[in-house]
Amino acid sequence: MTTETQTASRRRASFHNLTVAEVRRLTDDAIEVTFGVPAELAGQYDYLPGQYVALRTSLPDDNGEPHEVRRSYSICAEPRSFEDGSSEIRVAIKKDLGGIFSTWANAELKAGDVLDVMSPQGAFISRHGKDGSSVQHNVMNSMNHPEELAGEPGSFVAIAAGSGITPVIAIARTLLAANPETKFDLVYANKAAMDVMFLEELADLKDKYPSRLALHHVLSREQRIAPLMTGRIDSEKLQSLLSSAIHAEDVDEWFLCGPFELVQLCRDTLAARGVEPEHVRFELFTTGRPDRPEGNAGRPVVEDESQDTFKITFTLDGLTGDVASPTHARESILNAALRVRPDVPFACAGGVCGTCRAKLITGTVTMDENYALEQDELDKGYVLTCQSHPTSEEVTVDFDV
Ligand code: FES
Repeated sequence: MTTETQTASRRRASFHNLTVAEVRRLTDDAIEVTFGVPAELAGQYDYLPGQYVALRTSLPDDNGEPHEVRRSYSICAEPRSFEDGSSEIRVAIKKDLGGIFSTWANAELKAGDVLDVMSPQGAFISRHGKDGSSVQHNVMNSMNHPEELAGEPGSFVAIAAGSGITPVIAIARTLLAANPETKFDLVYANKAAMDVMFLEELADLKDKYPSRLALHHVLSREQRIAPLMTGRIDSEKLQSLLSSAIHAEDVDEWFLCGPFELVQLCRDTLAARGVEPEHVRFELFTTGRPDRPEGNAGRPVVEDESQDTFKITFTLDGLTGDVASPTHARESILNAALRVRPDVPFACAGGVCGTCRAKLITGTVTMDENYALEQDELDKGYVLTCQSHPTSEEVTVDFDV
């Protein structure tokens, strides 16, 4: 990853109020929400296709008390800016079963509403191109004319399920526009045709690039003409898809986006077929690990002077502070840090997004889950603070580097 990519994908997260410009229904249980970005904030909200934003608002809890809710959603459109310097951010929000935020958004959100929107984050971006830099970087300088980009030709495959299509459609559009020789194979799994998000947009993209985009819809609960395109993607079906339906040889980059089980299956299968991990990008929508309950952020922990504590020192936006964390609480560094600095960045609190990343300067920690940091970041000492627990009496982390 180049320094430029690091900067773009790891910018320090900050929230701003953005106004909803439009809400468009995609399916019975999914909407596309467009936020207007005023010119003065444009520099904070430029992004690379594949990145996401966290949304924050306050909703009543079971007792009717206001309760902060934050959720991350991938950006579904390629970057665009307007003549007056303003721009926009589009996300797709699919209603999750029992999902408080997504249910509320699908029922209530409308143009004119204002939400807290975090500056775009995430490393689910293409790194294909000269010197390891991404053709997508050029999008930052040529936001309205991706077809004019001189990206290197490439061969790409994406496997997405459900709302996993959201970042993938932005990546596919950009890469296909960037070079006239680029090929893109997209496997998109859903339960039924009525669940397919961006159905028209995908068909339009296929019309635009008939020989370069191969689109494979796989439906688990509906019969398609080809048996291979019917049923759940399990190990056997995945092997068949890789062997017969898609161009799986000489792929420059693989993009995997969906639930934990599918992404894990694809990663394992690709590894067994000899695909190097550095050619595989993945993004999880949830860890799908019910044995890992929430509680890595915002869990009340009471400090008591009689207790043994860890001392956690952290630097954020140039300010250094510390907080005591009772050893018996086994709380995350993020959970402790939020007690004294509510602006410590986080989004998923589940080890998935990487927003809470910091560098471990002194001391030792154990990290429960990591679906966000790559090996080179781990080697440099970066940790996910939402997943890290101190194992030495004193720990120092830096969110600014
Ligand atoms: S907040 Fe998402 S990985 Fe920690």
